[in-house]
Amino acid sequence: MKNITKSKLIGIVITSSLFSGCGGGTGDGGNAFQLFSPLPNNIATPINNPSTTEKNTLGQLLFWDPILSGNQDVACATCHHPAKGYADALILSQGVGGMGLGEDRIGGSLAKRNAPTILNTAFNGIHNQGPHVPEQAPMFWDNRIRSLEHQAKLPILSQEEMRGEDIAEDQIMAIVIERLEAIPEYKQLFLNAFGTSVITETLIFKAIASFERSLIANNSRFDQFLKGDSNALTAIEQEGLEEFVEVGCAECHSGPMLSDYQLHVIGTPDLTLPNGTLLTDMGAGQLDFRTPTLRNLNLTGPYMHNGIFETLEEVVQFYQQASQGENIHPSLSLQDLAPQIQQLDMGDGDGDGDGDGDGDGDGDGEGGNNAIVSFLKSLQDDQFDKTIPESVPSGLQPGGNI
Ligand code: HEC
Ligand code: HEC
Repeated sequence: MKNITKSKLIGIVITSSLFSGCGGGTGDGGNAFQLFSPLPNNIATPINNPSTTEKNTLGQLLFWDPILSGNQDVACATCHHPAKGYADALILSQGVGGMGLGEDRIGGSLAKRNAPTILNTAFNGIHNQGPHVPEQAPMFWDNRIRSLEHQAKLPILSQEEMRGEDIAEDQIMAIVIERLEAIPEYKQLFLNAFGTSVITETLIFKAIASFERSLIANNSRFDQFLKGDSNALTAIEQEGLEEFVEVGCAECHSGPMLSDYQLHVIGTPDLTLPNGTLLTDMGAGQLDFRTPTLRNLNLTGPYMHNGIFETLEEVVQFYQQASQGENIHPSLSLQDLAPQIQQLDMGDGDGDGDGDGDGDGDGDGEGGNNAIVSFLKSLQDDQFDKTIPESVPSGLQPGGNI
């Protein structure tokens, strides 16, 4: 990357968008440089779970209905709320027993991690080329499960998030199904969606996943730029894009979601909770995390698996320091970090020079970082479905105690 000049880079970025339109052609030199492509207009759905309006209607109500939680106080939407970009704006999520929405939420059992957004999870696992297989879509910060259908069960089983203390893990689904079966409106909705009013786990999760796939935001100004509107990004945002590529962010944050969906050790420090407890996700042996999407970041802070950084400026500063081995997790040293982090070329005013003599001096210091942040903020599409149902079939409060 280092010996490619800026003007060539922007050419490559733009050219790559042209290549992306040509249906996965292989073997031409342009593909080697393809870094990004716009999100597609259409989502891919699993062969055994095509999306339908009826499923989405049912899935939306299930997503909002706290009936799925042990104490009927937490819904999926409690932590994945449209007013918070389908995340929750908290450092760590608060589930069972909590009250309030987002930053105002108090008293809930702490989840181990920061809630990612549900927006665009329909596209998890997508790359510039090749098929997108929703059955294999990686989920969670550690990619520990595949597909929205399989993911949806885990928050219900989780004691902190939804289940609570009173119901055993192997009982909760039977109890949830019994509750749903007792509500005629749900039986009718399952009949409409699946042709049967016999409610099963599989059908619950198919409906929720189908609804989640409807929550997309695929028309950011960056998408418009990649589709050929060169005015869609401001000058500073375009400069930020160049910096982003040039310093090496796109070594991991590439593709339509600006994620390679791989796990990497980047050295994020542990989080100290306000009460002084050190949150030791990494201490527990989890060192590598999935490259998250960089779309809609304006709505989804705080950042990282443990919500340790409040602003994008802090995140970019972290990378600048991490690439020098500074301020990283204390049990790691520079050599433990992913090679792409060690190779980040962000300068540090230390003048060690890369010897290529191009002398353009970019990438160093505040200016470059600010431009990167401006670029990150352009990856935003606010035109997503923010519907909050007025009521849910259980008669409980939509979204739980929020
Ligand atoms: C108490 C808050 C909370 C509730 C309630 C909750 N989630 Fe989450 N959700 C999280 C957290 C925290 C994570 C990240 C966990 C991890 O990576 O280990 C997450 C991750 C996810 C992901 C993965 C996204 C990705 O890109 O990897 C999906 C999808 C999701 N939740 C859907 C749901 C659904 C569906 C429900 C309801 C059945 C639900 N969540 C209920 C907090 C919550
Ligand atoms: C080695 C691959 C890699 C490189 C290179 C990389 N990142 Fe990341 N990025 C990650 C991973 C992995 C995480 C999640 C880490 C965690 O949760 O602890 C992340 C998290 C982020 C986040 C937080 C997103 C969120 O929703 O919490 C932002 C913003 C970000 N990176 C921007 C950048 C920028 C800007 C650069 C270049 C300066 C960059 N990244 C370079 C892999 C990478």
